Amino acid sequence: MIEPPSPLNVLALCGSLRQASVNKALLRAAARLAAPQADVEVADWLGRLPLFNPDLEADPEVELPMPVQALRLGVAHCDAILVATPEYAHGVSGVLKNALDWLVSFEPFIHKPVAVINASPRAHHADDALREILRTMSAGLVGERSFALPLLGAQLDAAGMAASPDVAAVVAEAMAALRAERVRQATQGVPVFPFR
Ligand SMILES: Cc1cc2nc3c(=O)[nH]c(=O)nc-3n(C[C@H](O)[C@H](O)[C@H](O)COP(=O)(O)O)c2cc1C
Repeated sequence: MIEPPSPLNVLALCGSLRQASVNKALLRAAARLAAPQADVEVADWLGRLPLFNPDLEADPEVELPMPVQALRLGVAHCDAILVATPEYAHGVSGVLKNALDWLVSFEPFIHKPVAVINASPRAHHADDALREILRTMSAGLVGERSFALPLLGAQLDAAGMAASPDVAAVVAEAMAALRAERVRQATQGVPVFPFR
């Protein structure tokens, strides 16, 4: 029986730059709830990435900007990715889309197990678009749908979310799906970074 890596190293991508972001708080709560079985690192610094420009990655002689290197290193070394983002004007936040654009031609992203948690289930346009983007990028997207949690207006910070049984249940579900995807991939010989 193939076991998933323990602890599971998870990179959490947050699509909001807001100080009081619900999505950021949710990912921080997920980090608390998932420990010690998973080590969740919240990348709440995606705003430091420069705007994606394919010219910058076309020349192997030119070093990529540091935040891009950090993002790619995080993706290469993690076992799975967790994503939470706001919807802006029915679209994915520019912050998250920009980060994903930097990963489109980054090989270690391919087949990487990815779970999306939607903190505002009424905001389905961005969620649908995000899932389409992730499928197009050949991510190992888990779940038929995103893991939904109506947290907008709940007035909870990360500690409050971590204490919520509803949040705990959804985070546990998402983590279990990521683990199951790693096991499925290992069982079926799907090549995915990091090779273990
Ligand atoms: C410019 C802007 C556009 C928004 N557009 C939508 C939208 O189209 N649909 C929606 O459900 N919410 C929309 N919202 C609400 C945000 O998605 C919501 O406030 C979310 O909590 C923000 O995430 P955050 O708390 O992580 O920053 C919009 C908010 C802003 C600031």
